[in-house]
Amino acid sequence: MNLYEGLITRRTIHRFRPDPVSDSIISRMLEAAVQAPNHHVTQPWRFVVVKGHSLHKLADYRYAVALEKAHKQNRPHAQRIAEQAREDFASLPAVIAVIQILADDIFQQQEDYAAVSCATYAMMLAAWDHGVGTYWGTGGITRYPPALQLCQVKDNERIVAFVRVGYPHDVPHVPRIPAEDKTSWLS
Ligand SMILES: Cc1cc2nc3c(=O)[nH]c(=O)nc-3n(C[C@H](O)[C@H](O)[C@H](O)COP(=O)(O)O)c2cc1C
Repeated sequence: MNLYEGLITRRTIHRFRPDPVSDSIISRMLEAAVQAPNHHVTQPWRFVVVKGHSLHKLADYRYAVALEKAHKQNRPHAQRIAEQAREDFASLPAVIAVIQILADDIFQQQEDYAAVSCATYAMMLAAWDHGVGTYWGTGGITRYPPALQLCQVKDNERIVAFVRVGYPHDVPHVPRIPAEDKTSWLS
């Protein structure tokens, strides 16, 4: 797959097959991530690859977060929603926590967030190059203390994404407004 084709065809994957993803593919994703542009070459990122027993723990935390949210929103079938949230994680080959190391300066933090976002996208595209799908997730789990503890997130860090990794069951179609309609050319 060439780079442009990857950019155009990558989609967020919602349903994954249970097949394992090799550690070498995950390593290639991370090598792509650290090549992302970042102002002053601050390299403000860190990654935690969560698999196996640790992923089951993270899935349990996701259950707890989802259950609390569903109860707060008075949603019917709160238990079922939370169980699905757990299963979404527990059935995956891997989840990668993308962590931003927070600079003291607020403006640098903003630039670093942009850089960490580029790194996240780069890892997703590198996965796609191998036919591996991803899903950039945020939500309450990125701030849930036990999840932060599991990923050894320090006081001067935050989780920017939990990237789900696995072979796609299907690839959704998510149409875009053409770039032409979003662009003015000045000359
Ligand atoms: C910063 C960021 C946070 C996101 N968080 C979530 C999330 O918590 N839940 C979710 O379903 N999708 C999340 N997404 C994925 C978007 O929903 C997805 O990219 C969008 O639906 C477009 O689909 P596509 O990636 O297939 O083009 C996030 C994407 C970004 C860039």
